[in-house]
Amino acid sequence: MEKIAALAKRRGFVYGSSDIYGGLSGFWDYGPLGVELKNNIKRLWWRAMVHMRRNVVGLDAAIVMPPAVWAASGHLENFNDPLVECQSCKRRYRADDIDDPTTCPNCGGRLAEPRQFNTMFQTFVGPVADDAAVAYLRPETAQGTFVNFKNVLQSTNQKVPFGIAQIGKSFRNEITTGNFIFRSREFEQMELEYFVQPGTDDEWFQYWRKERMRWWTEYMGVHPEHLRLRDYEPSELSHYSKQTADIEYQFPFGVKELEGIADRTDFDLRAHIAGSGIDLTYFDERSGEHFVPYVIEPAVGVDRSFLVAMIDAYEEEPVGTKPGDFRTVLKFKPQLAPFKIAVFPLLANKPDLVTRAREIYDQLLPYFATAWDDIGNVGKRYRRQDEIGTPWAITVDFQTLEDGTVTVRDRDTMTQDRYHENELLDLFRGRLGPGGIS
Ligand code: GAP
Repeated sequence: MEKIAALAKRRGFVYGSSDIYGGLSGFWDYGPLGVELKNNIKRLWWRAMVHMRRNVVGLDAAIVMPPAVWAASGHLENFNDPLVECQSCKRRYRADDIDDPTTCPNCGGRLAEPRQFNTMFQTFVGPVADDAAVAYLRPETAQGTFVNFKNVLQSTNQKVPFGIAQIGKSFRNEITTGNFIFRSREFEQMELEYFVQPGTDDEWFQYWRKERMRWWTEYMGVHPEHLRLRDYEPSELSHYSKQTADIEYQFPFGVKELEGIADRTDFDLRAHIAGSGIDLTYFDERSGEHFVPYVIEPAVGVDRSFLVAMIDAYEEEPVGTKPGDFRTVLKFKPQLAPFKIAVFPLLANKPDLVTRAREIYDQLLPYFATAWDDIGNVGKRYRRQDEIGTPWAITVDFQTLEDGTVTVRDRDTMTQDRYHENELLDLFRGRLGPGGIS
C-alpha cells in the first residue's frame, strides 16, 4: 500500500487534499493521471450498466437534499456509527473498528460507552444559518434516484423491470478514515437502482450478483482469485435491506468490501410515499395491477474501484541482467489505462525524427489518449510508461524515415514489433475493441 500511495503521488494519480495547508483527513485530490483513470472506470461502468442495456437510463441528481428526504429514508435516525471516545487522550474510534471496546489503542486509557454518531454532513442553504435552512450532503446517490422515480417514469417509456443509474459524489463524516482512498469522507459512487415486480426480487438479486462479478473480471480485468462474493448474515443487514451480498477484494490490509448488492425491497419508495404524500406506485398495463416496485441495488465506490485497479495491476518484475534490477509496472487493462499509447522519437535532438514522431502523435491523438515522451533514453521512457500503465509505446527511428515503419512495444511482454505507420489506427482500434477508444 505504501508503494502504491507513493507511486500515486509521484506520478500524479492521487494527492492529499489541500496538502500545502497540512491536508484534511479523509479528502483526496486526483491528479492528471488519476482523473483519467477515474473517468475510464466510470465510463466502463456506464457502458456496462446503461449503454449496453435497453432498460436502464441515467440520472444526475443534486448532492444537497432537504431534511425531509433523510427523515423519510431513515438516514436521520439510522445512518449512525457507534463512536467511542478515550477518557484520557480524547481520541475517537468507531467501536466496531477496534478489538477491545473498553481500552484505548493509543494510550491504554478507558473508553467511554459507545454513542451513536450520525455520519451525514449538514449544511445550510441560503444566507441565514438557522434550523429552517438545514440541508444534508447525500451519503448515497440512491435517494436522489428514489425521489426522481416518478419523473423518470413519466419522461421515458420504461416498464418494470427497469433501472436508473447514477454516478456522483457522496459524503460521509466517517469517524475514522484510512488505508489511503479506501474509506474517505468525500467519495464518488456508481449506483444502479433496479426496479422489479415484488416476488421477482430473489431472482433479480441473483442476476445482479453474477453480473457485477462479471463486470469486475471482464470489464475491469481484476484477477478473479482476488475477488469473493459474501452473503450477509441477517444481523449485518442495513435498515432497508432484505438480503445483501458484498463483492470483497483481497486488499493488502485484509479482505474488505468493494461493492454491495442489496435487495432494498419497497422500503425506499414506500418511505417517500409516506414522507411526500406523492403516489409513487407503478401501474402495470399488462396485468392491470398497481404495485410499489422492489429495488435491487448494486452500489460501488469509484475511489475504492480506483484503489483496486491500482493494486490489482501493480507488479514489480526483475529485468535486465543485474541482480536487483526490476521494473514497476501497472498492468491495467488497456481500456483503463490513462494513456493508451506513448510516442517517442528515438533521439530528441534529431529534428527529422522529432517531426515524423509528431506527425504520428498528431494522427493518433483524436482517437486515443496518447502521450508524448522525449526525455532521457528510450529505456527510461519505457520504465516511465510502464509505471503509469501505458500499454503500448511507439518509437520512431531512422528506419521510419526510410520505409514508414515504427516499433510498437508491448508493456506486458516487452516485445517489439514493426508496423507501418498507416496500420496504427486500425491496430489499436482492434486491440481496444468497441467502447475502448479514448
Ligand atoms: N446505496 C447503498 C450504499 O451506499 P454502502 O455499502 O454504504 O451502500 C456502497 O456503499 C459502496 O460505496 C461501498 O461498497 C464502497 O465501495 C463505497 N463507499 C461507501 N462508503 C465509502 C467511503 N467512506 N469511502 C469510500 N468509498 C465508500
